[in-house]
Amino acid sequence: MLWLLLSVLSSAVALYVLNSAHTPSNNGRPLPHPSDTLPLLGNAIRFLQPRHQLFTWFLTQQRQFSGQTYAISVPSLPPGVVISSPENLEFVLRNESLVTKGDFFRTRAWDLFGHGIINATGPLWKAQRKAGLRFFSGETLDVMVEEVLPEFWTDIVEKRLDEASATDYKEWTTVDLQHVFHDLTTAIMGQMAYDIPALNSSHPFSRAFDFASGWTATRFQNPLYTFTELFNGGKFRKAVAEVKHFGLQIVARAKRRRGNRAFESLVEGNDAPQFNTLIDSLIEAIDNPTIVADSAMNFLSAGRDTTAESLTWTTYALLRHQPVLWRLRQEITTAFPIGTQNLTLASLQPSTIPYILATFYESLRLYPPVPLEIQQCEADCTLPDGTFLPKSSVIVFCIWALNRSVDLWVEDAEQFRPERWLDDDGKFAGRSAWDFPVFNGGPRACLGRKMAEVLGCWVLVRLVEDWDVEEVRDGHGDRVSAISLTLPMKGGLPVRVRRRATAATAAEM
Ligand code: HEM
Ligand SMILES: *[C@@H]1O[C@H](CO)[C@@H](O)[C@H](O)[C@H]1NC(C)=O
Ligand SMILES: *[C@@H]1O[C@H](CO)[C@@H](O)[C@H](O)[C@H]1NC(C)=O
Ligand SMILES: *[C@@H]1O[C@H](CO)[C@@H](O)[C@H](O)[C@H]1NC(C)=O
Ligand SMILES: *[C@@H]1O[C@H](CO)[C@@H](O)[C@H](O)[C@H]1NC(C)=O
Ligand SMILES: *[C@@H]1O[C@H](CO)[C@@H](O)[C@H](O)[C@H]1NC(C)=O
Repeated sequence: MLWLLLSVLSSAVALYVLNSAHTPSNNGRPLPHPSDTLPLLGNAIRFLQPRHQLFTWFLTQQRQFSGQTYAISVPSLPPGVVISSPENLEFVLRNESLVTKGDFFRTRAWDLFGHGIINATGPLWKAQRKAGLRFFSGETLDVMVEEVLPEFWTDIVEKRLDEASATDYKEWTTVDLQHVFHDLTTAIMGQMAYDIPALNSSHPFSRAFDFASGWTATRFQNPLYTFTELFNGGKFRKAVAEVKHFGLQIVARAKRRRGNRAFESLVEGNDAPQFNTLIDSLIEAIDNPTIVADSAMNFLSAGRDTTAESLTWTTYALLRHQPVLWRLRQEITTAFPIGTQNLTLASLQPSTIPYILATFYESLRLYPPVPLEIQQCEADCTLPDGTFLPKSSVIVFCIWALNRSVDLWVEDAEQFRPERWLDDDGKFAGRSAWDFPVFNGGPRACLGRKMAEVLGCWVLVRLVEDWDVEEVRDGHGDRVSAISLTLPMKGGLPVRVRRRATAATAAEM
């Protein structure tokens, strides 16, 4: 620990000397900074803390500065600011070429994410973005709702919940719902991004991928990772190699399948075949198999953990707010008069299930799966509030803190209250990305937003309608998140479950 501090300190000195002539300012005046900023170390210690403490710190600062831009400094990083006003957020999110992920993110993410959409810029990004849009514009969501989800729900979720439940209350066993959701989204994304029939967490690819993404996350909290990995990085490098190797195999297999199908239809004189997995869209857009493999893996990565986490936090919030659960069940009864066994995409629209969608969004507001963004300026720029940022400056926004602000905007910001998403007529009323950047915004807005919404609502309907769930609190107060790039619940979400009487009779009929 001491050597770590020492080297952080020495790089701090070096950077302080280098940077002090060139820091963010507003009309020539220095920006305010948090009162606990240390000489040389700046706010570094904060960034090394458990992340729920870091998020609480961001929230405290945001209240302190009431939405004003303030300066932060972390040794080994260029000088930075924290922004929160919708005007600044709009500027940053829409100016996709001026404010980018930057080297801080890219160097750490490169090994695993490679040429995929998360790291890519320019034409390579555009090609993947277009392939993704094409994938999501077709029948993908119909197929997910009517085929993929019901199958995996039965095989993965119901199987596990049935094992854990018992007819006699005393025989209940505890099951980690976060783990179950994670297996569900792994299977769904594995099928839809990679075209693997039933990916689960014991598959060698899954294990390598989980290890490598967990490792990548720790790099963001270890300023000396390039050095420490000389000694302990072997397993990581092996996992990355395995992920990449597997990706190439999948691409090769998809190409063979496409070739065979095209040949068959030629011989039989049929129309050219349609291919509709993500791998297919990518192969059609990009020549290089390595890039296709990287890209598919990026989609898997972007869509899997975020969705599982959003489901976990939504269920958690529901379990602690029974009136919301009751109202949700009421809406289910009215929205699906013939039952919830065969849900369709058309029946899962905001107009039919406003309260369910509102519940999902209220949980995203309080527990955003991407809780913190760190970006960098590609050139000098001036934010709408007059903040001047020299090239390479870091721009941070803490989504976790943004919508807990109890300023003029949201008086009851800390409360879980889905009603805030409904207008006077009870219709779902969304927010602009600048007010609510949970899915990012502008040209690099999340491509999977609709998929996440539909999947989230589908799972909520089936879970709440068919199961009674009870949290196993074991003395836990509020649950917090663990170290990650996203927002996993630390220790999972242990629950006891039981099939509801209505569901049981429906199944017997
Ligand atoms: C509740 C669930 C989700 C949340 C909160 C979420 C949030 C986000 C955020 C904040 C970004 C911007 C990340 C950044 O640039 O730093 C993003 C990008 C992205 N998301 Fe999602 N996401 C979710 C689900 C999904 C799903 C299900 C998919 C699809 C399979 C997906 C695919 C993507 C892709 C491809 C990008 C990169 C877009 C680009 O750079 O052009 N996401 N998402
Ligand atoms: C993007 O940045 C440029 C240059 O600073 C600025 O003129 C423009 O208004 C910004 N665009 C948006 C949408 O904020
Ligand atoms: C991804 O990031 C790395 C590291 O900064 C960079 O060398 C590489 O060119 C980037 N790749 C793409 C495709 O943008
Ligand atoms: C995971 O998938 C493999 C086949 O891909 C299967 O043999 C194994 O039983 C599955 N494991 C679990 C826990 O479902
Ligand atoms: C749901 O669909 C299945 C077949 O796809 C059918 O057997 C069943 O009767 C349907 N259930 C309801 C409640 O419509
Ligand atoms: C989130 O906070 C912004 C201000 O930063 C506010 O405009 C917006 O209405 C809030 N959104 C929600 C859902 O409370």
